[in-house]
Amino acid sequence: MAVALLAAACTACAAGGAALQPASDRVEGLLARMTLDEKIGQLGVYAAADDATGANPLPLARLRADRQLDEIRAGRIGALFNGAGTARKREAQRAAVQASRLGIPLLFAADVIHGYCTVFPVPLAEAAAWDPALAERTARAAAVEAAADGVRWTFAPMVDITRDARWGRGVEGAGEDVLLGSRLAAARVRGFQGPDLSRPDALLATAKHFVAYGAAEGGLDYNGADVSERTVREVYLPPFRAAVDAGAGAVMTAFNTIAGVPVMADPRWVRGVLRGEWGFGGLVVSDYTADAELVAHGVAADDRAAAKLAFRAGNDLSMQSGLYRDHLAALVRSGEVPMADVDAAVRRVLATKERLGLFDDPMRGLDAERRCTDRPDHVALAREAAVRSIVLLRNEGELLPLAASRRRIALIGPFSRGPQDLHGPWTLFPGPTPPVSLEDGLRAALGPDAVLDVVRGSDVQSPLRGGIGAAVAAARRADVVLLAIGEGEALSGEARSRSVPEIPKAQRDLAEAVAATGRPVVVLLRTGRALALEGAVRDAQAIVVTWFLGSQTGHAVADVLLGRAAPGGRLPVSFPRTAGQAPLYYAHRPTGRPQPEDDPDAFYKARFLDAPREPLYPFGHGLGYGRIRYEDLRLDSATLEGEGTLEVRARLRNSGARTMREVPQLYVRGRVAAVSRPVRELKDFRSVDVAPGQAVEVVFTLRRDDLAYLGPDLRPVVEPGDYDVWVAPSAEAGLHGRFRLVR
Ligand code: BGC
Repeated sequence: MAVALLAAACTACAAGGAALQPASDRVEGLLARMTLDEKIGQLGVYAAADDATGANPLPLARLRADRQLDEIRAGRIGALFNGAGTARKREAQRAAVQASRLGIPLLFAADVIHGYCTVFPVPLAEAAAWDPALAERTARAAAVEAAADGVRWTFAPMVDITRDARWGRGVEGAGEDVLLGSRLAAARVRGFQGPDLSRPDALLATAKHFVAYGAAEGGLDYNGADVSERTVREVYLPPFRAAVDAGAGAVMTAFNTIAGVPVMADPRWVRGVLRGEWGFGGLVVSDYTADAELVAHGVAADDRAAAKLAFRAGNDLSMQSGLYRDHLAALVRSGEVPMADVDAAVRRVLATKERLGLFDDPMRGLDAERRCTDRPDHVALAREAAVRSIVLLRNEGELLPLAASRRRIALIGPFSRGPQDLHGPWTLFPGPTPPVSLEDGLRAALGPDAVLDVVRGSDVQSPLRGGIGAAVAAARRADVVLLAIGEGEALSGEARSRSVPEIPKAQRDLAEAVAATGRPVVVLLRTGRALALEGAVRDAQAIVVTWFLGSQTGHAVADVLLGRAAPGGRLPVSFPRTAGQAPLYYAHRPTGRPQPEDDPDAFYKARFLDAPREPLYPFGHGLGYGRIRYEDLRLDSATLEGEGTLEVRARLRNSGARTMREVPQLYVRGRVAAVSRPVRELKDFRSVDVAPGQAVEVVFTLRRDDLAYLGPDLRPVVEPGDYDVWVAPSAEAGLHGRFRLVR
């Protein structure tokens, strides 16, 4: 159950995706025949000439486009990514296999982040399901579709912990928590790679971005992080370790600095931790032009120096910049880069290609045109995952599920209709069928007799002429208003940092006007991050977080609103009261001057003058359509001794009229430790269905290892003493108990 602590060597690396095994005769034979230029060629990964994804700054990619096939024939390119068409991949692969001197196949990569043809919820949304098995299934489905299109390597999962809502890339990860993030990281790796990398539907996984990219100062993307080694090891590294232990075949180094040194140029992280401490033997790839950016960082005088730093720090592959191609040979000749290190990197690349079966079947997935038909099982999975991702934050007077008597519905807001802003960021290869809009999903569910009035009311960031008037009129005609507001794709994802992560003003004005009609309002919140909810949005009778849910959005939202499915999602990130609370996360350390609960006005305490310290909705929070009470916390002993276990039990009683999928969470705090411990830390969780009138007992087992943390010397330690324990529906509630850890 414990999140892997970081000092021990990786146990499962050899068994999983990491290639610790000695290279095969084929790989060694090739290596012996390769020129230095051909070796360096295998260390270059470039955007495909037909990359039309817009996922990266294009000029660099375009510069290389016309020469790409020549370069492949010359053996100077090892891998391509984000190519659009099967035919182009086939042409490129033929050039590599048939026209290059050694016939080494290309490896096709892509940012397959949350689906390929079928689009699943964005990873942050899916994290709200708190269900690693679900994450594994959607990753598997994405892998099957991508591999059928010749893609064998994904730049996913993104496993960065996100504690600052200003940072737009939180949408790609699993949220703020180390344990949840680690479990989902491992699940996604297993899903992408499948049981065996040589299978035709396996996708090599890449844990990214190594490391502390999510700690960017001020939440500003590409900014430096100034976090302690302790925080890196306690918070940011564990999901990588989980991914590596699950067999991830690759790791991508990040853009950011830590304490002034770019991670990708600092041998401490890749050579020291990843390879040295964990024994990782897979590929290390730099992020897009990150090596060239060492010049802008001010740690390399020129490209040559940047290439040297990047390679020597442990980056096997250089993405897009061409720096290795242009400078590595000279660096080897001058003795600044040892030939043996180049050989080791090339050996890892060739061994990976071999494990993927590329030498034996290089044209796999490339023989026919792209096969992006809707697979019924994947469509059903997309709907299931979308339903499971939805989080019901508030439901005053049990407004939801919508009663049949509420026949006249006004669907209002910039996200009410149309296929835009449903997939979410990092949807690069969607199939031809458009995603199901809210309007279409609701109409399909409500049938032809329902009165559904659909009014945009506002654009995402600016008012619409007459919009509010039309929205108010529609609200007045309705029994209930569904208000679809929040962030669009343009506000979420890479390079989409926001200094004030809240609902744009035009939409808040719309919300105020609609609320003033007095009609009951259900907010359907489109977002890729925790948004500050204020005013009429905060006070709406019901608030449903609908994230970016992918292909089946409209159907999934309708399922939940109409009670055909119960909402079961729980927040993977704390929702603030006001944007200025960032960074905001539940597992913070205590302060020496906490605000006394019984004296909220006490001064000289750790408090904001203009906002509470607590979130509006805490990590782990989410309602269902049942009414759950947590009862009767019992520990089977007051002490935990030696290698023993401690059972922690609680009863969940549903006094409501509907079945509830509840996610009981186990939190712990060490009261006294040499290094102050967070006020709570998640140690385990479950997912249980509780029928109406039923009481279900949950049992958690705590072991000594679950209480380990990194002591003053950064080595794992377990300290005897008193511990708090909670079985809870969120990080800010629950039943509390105590026990003592005895040596
Ligand atoms: C992102 C990576 C991505 C790469 C290739 C970079 O800008 O940081 O996550 O894999 O582009 O598209």
